[in-house]
Amino acid sequence: MDKDIESILLSEEDIQNRIKELGQILTEEYAGKNPVIIGVMKGVVIFFSDMIKQIKVPCQMDFMWISSYAGTTSTGNMVVRSDISADIEGRHVLILEDIYDTGNSLTFVREHLLKKNPASLKICTLLDKPSRRKHGITLQADYVGFEVPNAFVVGYGLDYNEYYRNLPYIGILKPEVYTD
Ligand code: IMP
Ligand code: MG
Repeated sequence: MDKDIESILLSEEDIQNRIKELGQILTEEYAGKNPVIIGVMKGVVIFFSDMIKQIKVPCQMDFMWISSYAGTTSTGNMVVRSDISADIEGRHVLILEDIYDTGNSLTFVREHLLKKNPASLKICTLLDKPSRRKHGITLQADYVGFEVPNAFVVGYGLDYNEYYRNLPYIGILKPEVYTD
């Protein structure tokens, strides 16, 4: 285990097993629909590459990159830094996300993509932290890997100050690691 990690919340095996289960559900859901699968950068990249291999239907992939105007925590003032390149009008779209926290990011991404008139738009998030949902946000993810408690987690794409994304598991950092 990495020296900065206090405990492992989800092991590599936990994650891979759940991705296989979700893969079966999504394979059935998207049979014959040739979906466009969109990842929200950067935290999703590791999940995205494992998840897409388990969705066994013809599909296309695309990415978008969003950020908040201020700071590292999402504020609700989101901006598209890099948009998708596919034309999704009339297409079945599945958004993949690393974690659904306050809900600001996914609410913004969803509204942005809905303006492009997809035939359908669903959300699959690896982690859901419902206890953190901002007041007034009622959007639910259609598919959830794991519900997690209100703790800051890293690994498997999730970062703290851009580090720890490469850990193959999801863990909780030791308190002394935090600098802010
Ligand atoms: P939201 O807009 O608050 O739902 O936050 C979504 C984004 O915040 C995620 O895509 C992550 O990049 C980041 N985030 C939220 N919670 C965590 C966490 O526990 N660890 C690492 N990143 C997080
Ligand atoms: Mg992030």
